[in-house]
Amino acid sequence: MSNIKINPQALEAINNYSIDWDNIGFGKCMAPTMIVADYNNGKWGDLEMVPYGNLTLSPTCKVFHYAQEIFEGMKAYRVDRNGPLLFRPYENAKRFNISAERMVMPTLNEDLFVESVKVMAAHCKDFIPTKTGESLYIRPFMFATEEHLGIKPADQFKYMVLASPSGAYFSSDSITIQIERRYTRACPGGTGYAKTGGNYAASLKAVKEARERGFDQTLWLDSEHKRYLEELSGMNIFCLINGELHTPAMTESILDGITRRSLIDLAKSYGITVHESKMDIDELIAQIQNGSCTEAFACGTAAIITPIGGFGETDGKKYELKESFGPIASKLRDGLLSIQEGRTEDPFNWIVDLSKL
Ligand SMILES: Cc1ncc(COP(=O)(O)O)c(C=O)c1O
Repeated sequence: MSNIKINPQALEAINNYSIDWDNIGFGKCMAPTMIVADYNNGKWGDLEMVPYGNLTLSPTCKVFHYAQEIFEGMKAYRVDRNGPLLFRPYENAKRFNISAERMVMPTLNEDLFVESVKVMAAHCKDFIPTKTGESLYIRPFMFATEEHLGIKPADQFKYMVLASPSGAYFSSDSITIQIERRYTRACPGGTGYAKTGGNYAASLKAVKEARERGFDQTLWLDSEHKRYLEELSGMNIFCLINGELHTPAMTESILDGITRRSLIDLAKSYGITVHESKMDIDELIAQIQNGSCTEAFACGTAAIITPIGGFGETDGKKYELKESFGPIASKLRDGLLSIQEGRTEDPFNWIVDLSKL
């Protein structure tokens, strides 16, 4: 028995939907249905699947003023007609509740969170792209709906799940990264480890300026010393130095990426040594220049593994990697994607196969 009500109009919207498969892009094309639930008087109301559409909200909803908002990003895969398959959905459920706790928002039962994602993926199965690297991007989120301009934690919220048939996140094969030495995304005691809109809002100006200089993304350094690597705005980072993988150790100003954690396990299973430690940007630059750092890549649900071709500074200095898509990035990308897409064994038990439920 599902805990999620299915509105008949949602089924009608699904039946009447057609997709322009050649123009899906990333996050642009929305599935015809969504899940909604309201939190009032200290408890969640029913979750319901309804047709996708606009919301009517009071302009005084606290989210518009004080940004009490959290979200998750995950994917359903259906390559070679497998699945639909979900990748480690309970990890997203856990992180959603970690974000909720930081933002003084109600948690959602993990099983219910996962069920809402399963219901969306199962009902949208015909809109899941079947080419490798493509998927149904699923966006659970929650925001404060209480109508009041006073600054205090809200006591009314809305939880929703959207889905978007999506292709590649980046249009190029590798990306270039500006080392961000001026702006700060997150700091100790702040909200960096929570997946909340304000972190992304704080990053937009830096990324805009970096793009104007010809870079794709910025690399955030720790806010205190502007010296230790943290992450990119929507991705974690790995570097291959002397044949071993290095990634910044988790701090409270870094988002604990599920792709990052999975790649650490995958790399170790291939016999690759992985270090999670403080990474000094000046040391990394020297390692790129002396040839000991041969590869770098960004990773995340949206970006999968995206190789980094080089880093640079605002004054025009450039540090190019020897290999823009090196063998280790390529092996890990193939290994991870083939598990996610159900094209190989899943020794880690990461996959939830919706066709088997
Ligand atoms: C700031 C940030 N860092 C890292 C990641 C990668 O996390 P995951 O691998 O769980 O998608 C994301 C994407 O969710 C992100 O937004």
